[in-house]
Amino acid sequence: MNTFQLHTNIHAYSYEELPPEYRKLVDIAKQMTEASYCPYSRFAVGAALQLSDGTVVRGCNQENAAYPSGLCAERTAMFAASANHPGKAMKVLAIAAYTDGHFTEQPVSPCGGCRQVMVEFEDRQKEPLTVILYGTDGTYVIDSAKELMPFCFVSESLKGVKK
Ligand code: THU
Repeated sequence: MNTFQLHTNIHAYSYEELPPEYRKLVDIAKQMTEASYCPYSRFAVGAALQLSDGTVVRGCNQENAAYPSGLCAERTAMFAASANHPGKAMKVLAIAAYTDGHFTEQPVSPCGGCRQVMVEFEDRQKEPLTVILYGTDGTYVIDSAKELMPFCFVSESLKGVKK
């Protein structure tokens, strides 16, 4: 028997310490919580996704009375980017969440479904997608989506061979 660890590198910043280009994306993600449609959870999530040409695609969670029909902020942004800017690499994705009258203290933690989608776009574009998770107590910067989902299932996994 062998035990091994899977490692995730997370850079923790205060808001003031964030590089200005990251702070700009965090500010857009915070702003986008205002466009969220979340009458059921009252958990408003905003996303700002910067592409290789500098375009910033915006997203926010969209809920529905048929609960599973809703979608997270991250995926609204990534799917909008893929549909409207095909072939442009996704460089940086910032996320913020607002509930109970304030932004979350803890950095937002993307759900497994969104991580899976991030990893596939990253895999396709063959360059890393940086993920920024905002919280009022600190902001996490992760250099690659794969860090958030080690040992993930990607298109190559369908072949069952080691990558
Ligand atoms: N949600 C997101 O949009 N992104 C996340 O990273 C976590 C969860 C949404 C889905 C649902 O509309 C609400 O937050 C509560 O789960």
